[in-house]
Amino acid sequence: WLEDIQEQTAQAQDVDQVQEVRNRWLGRRGLIAQAMKELAALPLEEKRHQGQLLNALREKALETIGGRQAALELAEETRQLQQERLDMTLPGTLPHTGLLHPTTRVRRFIEDVFLRMGFSLEYGPEIEQEWYNFEALNIPANHPARDMQDSFFTNCPDRVLRTHTSPVQIRAMQKYQGSLPVKIIAPGRVFRRDDDATHVPMFFQVEGLVIDHGITLADLKGTLTAMALELLGSEIKTRFRPSYFPFTEPSVEMDVTCAACGGTGCRVCKGTGWVEILGSGMVHPTVLRNGGYDPDVVTGFAFGLGIERLAMRLFGIDDLRLLYQNDMQFLSQFQTYI
Ligand code: PHE
Repeated sequence: WLEDIQEQTAQAQDVDQVQEVRNRWLGRRGLIAQAMKELAALPLEEKRHQGQLLNALREKALETIGGRQAALELAEETRQLQQERLDMTLPGTLPHTGLLHPTTRVRRFIEDVFLRMGFSLEYGPEIEQEWYNFEALNIPANHPARDMQDSFFTNCPDRVLRTHTSPVQIRAMQKYQGSLPVKIIAPGRVFRRDDDATHVPMFFQVEGLVIDHGITLADLKGTLTAMALELLGSEIKTRFRPSYFPFTEPSVEMDVTCAACGGTGCRVCKGTGWVEILGSGMVHPTVLRNGGYDPDVVTGFAFGLGIERLAMRLFGIDDLRLLYQNDMQFLSQFQTYI
């Protein structure tokens, strides 16, 4: 029997087969158990002798089959581990996390720069009273900015979607009630009725207003140049051109050297080497008066910059509408710029 057991065990190729051999020999109704039962009929002396032999056989069988069983189980486990091994070099699947819109990043950056210079944040309504959006800012009734072409009017009489953040200048002055200095920025949405590669009907501006004794154009130039260098890098250049706004006098626009060509002239800057990023000027006496400040005692400067314009300059985008088409592939490109 022992030879049979050894042979059958050796032939078993896997865990199931060796289990079969085990059941056949060592099971409760297996061959050895049966032989034990048959001993009962034998005479005492014979029974003892055969019993000892059978017990020895069972020990041997346990050892043989158990050994093989352990070996096959180990082999099986090793095979499984091999098969299911994690390949740590495979690229992982990153969970999708949200990211900030490029204009949000630029807005926060600008806010940061001005907060560090001691400005505070102000906000005004996007649906604005006509007086704040126009009259208070010295924009007469026949000014082209009030034309149906440019402004979104509402069903509500005397309410427009603000066409710029400049009305917050008036609201801030009213809030400060004549105290000094006024040193605020006002970021937010503005609305105009145009739509082409460089204009969209909704965009973002950051307004700025500084009022104190003896504020001059030099303060304006210094502050805005510092902001531009901070934002666009110390290697860029700025220039100020005379301009016109009803609410500032004198008025100037600030240009920065074109990012695409570094100032030598290209398609983006229409060959000029310069890109306009903001309008500004010394606050018009009438505007100071409308806000409750005396233009004979204080002066101030104001500016309004377009966030999308700056984003284009910063990211090298030539079509502003791309920012608002919600193309994730496009929008997620700019996370490392600032
Ligand atoms: N409000 C002007 C615009 O929308 C920008 C501006 C703001 C100009 C403040 C001068 C002073 O274009």
